[in-house]
Amino acid sequence: MMTVSAPGKIHISGEHSVVYGKPALLAAVDKRIRVTITPLNDNTIKYKDINSGKQTVSHFAEIQQRTLETKSVFAKASSDRRFGVFRQSEKNPWTLHKIAIGETYQFLNRKPKSGFSLSLYSEIPIGSGMGSSAATSAAIIGAIFCLEQETWDLQTINKIVYEAEKRVHGLPSGADNTTIVHGGLLRFPSKTVTPPGTIPPFILIQSGKPIETTGEMVANVRAKYNEKKETFKALFSQTEAITEQIIKAFETSAFENFYSLIQENQRLLEKMGVVSERAKRIIRRVESIGGAAKICGAGGKKKGSGIILAFHPQIKMLEQALKKEQIPYFCSSLTNKGLIREDI
Ligand code: PMV
Repeated sequence: MMTVSAPGKIHISGEHSVVYGKPALLAAVDKRIRVTITPLNDNTIKYKDINSGKQTVSHFAEIQQRTLETKSVFAKASSDRRFGVFRQSEKNPWTLHKIAIGETYQFLNRKPKSGFSLSLYSEIPIGSGMGSSAATSAAIIGAIFCLEQETWDLQTINKIVYEAEKRVHGLPSGADNTTIVHGGLLRFPSKTVTPPGTIPPFILIQSGKPIETTGEMVANVRAKYNEKKETFKALFSQTEAITEQIIKAFETSAFENFYSLIQENQRLLEKMGVVSERAKRIIRRVESIGGAAKICGAGGKKKGSGIILAFHPQIKMLEQALKKEQIPYFCSSLTNKGLIREDI
């Protein structure tokens, strides 16, 4: 029996525009998913989700078949650039797990030595902008690497997680999986950011689980981009400029303009059409009492927009206001721990 865990992430700046090659700033946080893998004497693959109490059983042949099918759906969607088709696969609770297993064994170019069971427990809200799918894939892939006694190489694991992410989201930037696998604060692409001092205090507010999946939100932005190329190119460039300033603030711990940069990032996300009315109301409320807030990740337009990253100089005051209005929130902090083997 071996346990592997992976963190969730927050997007401090640059989501969506990162899909178009612009930079983003992300950080791993202390909410984690833990996956325990146990070899079995038969050739079944068993799954148990501790949070929901749901379980299921499958066989490797079915996983292989599913992996090949999603690969061909992906190839077709890539050539048509129609990633909305991922809606269904992302909504089936076990698809992600099977794809992660299938992609891993395809990469290793062999079958499992024996059957195994996977038991999953997650503190990361699902489908709410905290990278739950990348974290789930990363932890499953890591667990299989332990079971199969493969070399623990995070770069290799990250490549497989990215393949799994593509099968469920279409064309993700790769920022989520890279942050989750390596941990820490990351300017994507390319470098780790190490703030010399403390970072502005924040909490995470629940604006409600989006009805739309990440794949759908990315596809929605793509459709609008195709309709109004110049407008969206300008939105992405403005986001890039703000993201670079936010990265500079973290690199130097000079946060004088930080709140207005977060607000500007949020307004640009609103113009991209990824923020719901409910999320906007919460964000304006945070601003009205001296804070700054933005959605975090893909967002959502119809109902909830997932997690809101909210900064305030006096977190207690923000917490009081949220409690009074019965808006759910939770505290979190950044972590350098990416994907890890818990028993080592
Ligand atoms: O909502 P999440 O955690 O899946 O984050 C998506 C972030 C996007 O920038 C919208 C997509 C991407 O691939 O980077």
